[in-house]
Amino acid sequence: MPTTTRPTPETAAFDVEAFRADFPALAQDVYEDTPLAYLDNAATSQTPAPVIERLEQFYCRENSNVHRGVHRLSQDATEAYEGARTSLARFLNAPDSEQIIFTRGTTEGLNLVSSTFGRMVVGEGDEILLTEMEHHSNIVPWQMLAEQVGASIEVLPVTNRGELRMDRLPEMLTDDTALVAVTHVSNTLGTVNPMGDFIDAAHAEGVPVVVDGAQSAPHLPLDVQALDADFFTFSGHKMFGPTGIGVLYGKREHLEAMPPYQGGGDMIDQVSFEETTYDGLPHKFEAGTPNIADAIGLGRAAEYIMDLDWNAVQAHEDAVLEYATEKLEAVEGTRIIGTAPDKTSVLSFVFDDIHPYDAGTVLDREGVAVRTGHHCTQPLLKRYGLPGTIRASFAAYNTREDVDRLVDGLRKVRHMFG
Ligand code: ALA
Repeated sequence: MPTTTRPTPETAAFDVEAFRADFPALAQDVYEDTPLAYLDNAATSQTPAPVIERLEQFYCRENSNVHRGVHRLSQDATEAYEGARTSLARFLNAPDSEQIIFTRGTTEGLNLVSSTFGRMVVGEGDEILLTEMEHHSNIVPWQMLAEQVGASIEVLPVTNRGELRMDRLPEMLTDDTALVAVTHVSNTLGTVNPMGDFIDAAHAEGVPVVVDGAQSAPHLPLDVQALDADFFTFSGHKMFGPTGIGVLYGKREHLEAMPPYQGGGDMIDQVSFEETTYDGLPHKFEAGTPNIADAIGLGRAAEYIMDLDWNAVQAHEDAVLEYATEKLEAVEGTRIIGTAPDKTSVLSFVFDDIHPYDAGTVLDREGVAVRTGHHCTQPLLKRYGLPGTIRASFAAYNTREDVDRLVDGLRKVRHMFG
């Protein structure tokens, strides 16, 4: 895939109807005669038929354990599992598939890094730099680490529009900063952060950077080498893959120096009661029987994404977001939270003083699936003085009609609560 530079949205048209046909869940009525308008993709995206079929193929023909069996099924499962790792290395442009660790998702990726690499590089009196727009999963593991080792948490603020205060970054990278953890794209605001500049600034001070890619993996072409990220982690279920599976990428020198995360089968070289030696990468970090089926499903999802005309997809996604923004701004009483110029696929808003939960419940009866609440970013919502927002989040299969359904639904919300 290309680099993180977003292509100019003026390329070939994207056949959204043909694309939608790949996703069986989109074609259902959620209430009687009420078709689904699925706008909760930042939480979980729908799954295309090729991924579902790949899972079915695994369970029908290859189901067995990996790395251990001499029999045919085990060899097939191992080949498919390691093949998925290779697909994901390509998806991220990682130098080597050994740097791809399968996890349960972004949260486990961040916990893995904080409890291994974090313990190595963060000590008493050190600072861990986060940003005000982090998801709880990129806050709490670092707080736990800070508490354990006697370090402190520092927070780079955001602007009213929802951009990182990059002007404050140099002063916040102090001699005590031991590590930075930052999201690539905000799940609540949709802001695309200037990740390359951010990482360059941290590296200029010798500080490693952990990138939460949960929201960028589904929408931006990724290149961990061009970014020079020390770690990059994301979840499968937000990028057309299965639930319960994700990826952690790390620079080889870090992964090799890190102690294991969990102990058990498959991560060892030799075990005796006196001493255990560990396997090499990537197995050192994958104790126990892994989530084989879903790793293979995620590999298929990565291939599926890489086969798309990415310029056309992005042009379509940007056009839908722009249309949604204009339509929503025209609805009296709405206020969009997150108006950075560089955004992707998330539209968070408040609607007069109507509680987001009430709005979400009415929208649901209209078949419009949105998420309401704090989106696991309580400090960010506090920054804006809000208990929560209504969030519509888009995937490549969403259409202007989905947006129209949202706007029509909001009229019903106003009728009931306004
Ligand atoms: N992180 C997920 C979201 O933003 C759950 O909805």
